[in-house]
Amino acid sequence: MTHVETTTAAEPQVESVVEDRWWRDAVVYQVYVRSFADQSGDGIGDLAGVLDKLPYLHDLGVDALWFNPWYPSPLADTGYDISDYRSIDPAFGTLEEAENLIAAARALGIRTIIDIVPNHVSDEHPWFQEALASPPGSPERDRFWFRPGNGADGELPPNGWQSIFGGSAWTRTQDASGAPGDWYLHLFAPEQPDLNWTHPDVWTEHEDVLRFWFDRGVAGVRIDSAALLVKDPALSEEPADSVPGEHPFTDRDQLHEIYRRWRAIADGYAEPRVLVGEVWLPDAERFARYLRPDELHTAFNFDFLACPWEPGPMRTSIDSSLAAHAPVGAPATWVLSNHDVTRPVTRYGRDDTSFAFESKREGTPTDLQRGNRRARAAALLAMALPGSMYVYQGEELGLPEVEDIPAERRQDPMWLRSGGVDPGRDGCRVPLPWAGQRPPFAFSGEGADRPWLDLPDDWAPLTVAAQTAEATSMLNLYRAGLRLRRTIAALRAGNQRDADLRWLPSSDSVLAFARGEDFICLVNFGPDPVDLPDGASVLLASSELEGGALPYDSTVWLRQTNPHDPSGVRSPRADTSDRSNQPASGTVPVLRKG
Ligand code: GLC
Repeated sequence: MTHVETTTAAEPQVESVVEDRWWRDAVVYQVYVRSFADQSGDGIGDLAGVLDKLPYLHDLGVDALWFNPWYPSPLADTGYDISDYRSIDPAFGTLEEAENLIAAARALGIRTIIDIVPNHVSDEHPWFQEALASPPGSPERDRFWFRPGNGADGELPPNGWQSIFGGSAWTRTQDASGAPGDWYLHLFAPEQPDLNWTHPDVWTEHEDVLRFWFDRGVAGVRIDSAALLVKDPALSEEPADSVPGEHPFTDRDQLHEIYRRWRAIADGYAEPRVLVGEVWLPDAERFARYLRPDELHTAFNFDFLACPWEPGPMRTSIDSSLAAHAPVGAPATWVLSNHDVTRPVTRYGRDDTSFAFESKREGTPTDLQRGNRRARAAALLAMALPGSMYVYQGEELGLPEVEDIPAERRQDPMWLRSGGVDPGRDGCRVPLPWAGQRPPFAFSGEGADRPWLDLPDDWAPLTVAAQTAEATSMLNLYRAGLRLRRTIAALRAGNQRDADLRWLPSSDSVLAFARGEDFICLVNFGPDPVDLPDGASVLLASSELEGGALPYDSTVWLRQTNPHDPSGVRSPRADTSDRSNQPASGTVPVLRKG
């Protein structure tokens, strides 16, 4: 796609050029349909519920919706086990409703991104059922990874690969008489058999599924487990230290050929469709390969999501994200949460504010007030960074992780397969509270069935209605931030190739940066208030300023009224911490272009 860089506003093509690149600085709201809003009264959110709440999403100021899988699924992994890629789960609605929803959202200027899950299918998918019914070595089995076991009677798995949900990545089949047979591979749950991406059917099927949804007006796809599709056909064991590109099932070079094909399909539409990758890779250079101009458009920034609430690591994460994206010309994304990770209000309220699946533990002492304050500051920080931003439903309400879900109500295979050692992800997937004083807080209407996960009794102050009425609520902060983000030209500069973030000198406990001519963002991680630079007017702050200064765990957006005046981000007022490398006090220049 060639982008014409013209500035003649009168020319109609200018609009379409900008439109083509909407994804570069979009705010994408993640809809976990099951927990969004239930219109049918069965305790499960649905598409009618989303349609009903489109005005809410429009008012929030988002550019696109990303729907977690909405297809028919036996729910072994809450929808990431798909049995039909061209239909809608009856609990959510119909294909026609999905088409109407896509169109209705678009009429409000909101695009739709859907989840595509190409690594595996449900064990109830027709292909897998055919494979199970077919003999070893049959073409039907070739679309998956069936292998004889090791050991005298094939009683051992073909190799030592471990499932990401725990336990072996192999499950042994049985024939109709119960006799054990070959094993099949599943990097996730046994109900999610991995597809064999060396098989041409697998390629053509997914390309067809993409066209199916693109033809229905879907603006893009989020690609689940995007770096896992290709496996080493020799099924070699995982090395202790693998050379990038040589791991047997992660980030193998052949993956890029798949995404080049998908990009060509996406670019074939009058409004090119967008490919967003779920790519968890520690190596920034390997990550950026997925974002080359003929591959994916963007990928989730998990480094930022997992980063602790500390100025040094945050700055490093921002710098390394921007540096990784720059050579391939792709915009960075800024993500604070999703349906797989601990809610920020809870995480930021703990001693260890980083996120890692391995260290997730319920019952860790948590200061939710502190976490809330930091989550507010983090939101304004993320909104001010160059690129696109993701908001996971409920993040805008400051919902905490629900940690006391009774065992019999839990659904997540991470919890089930770890024997309850891993708390799993149900706690961040609890339905949204909309209004009222008691559960289910208008998630479902009067007389409806019990929600699939219960809403906590004490969520009345967190409902959309309660927060709408409270000027300083998290919801109103998100609304104000996203509204301003739209109007401040410097914050929409994701369309420019060169993201223009410029760090400003500040003390160690403060992050300060400028964008454009006059926009400044200050984040105070330290305990003491920080004076604002001279000549700056406040646009928005995550906490109330104290005597004109920015208090602890807070972010402020400023407009430098006279950018050419020497001014500064001052040192904290009474900070006694050791800062031997910093000026002891006084003012340092704030706007230094370069
Ligand atoms: C992705 C999804 C996660 C799912 C897994 C398997 O990581 O985000 O929710 O369990 O893939 O499909």
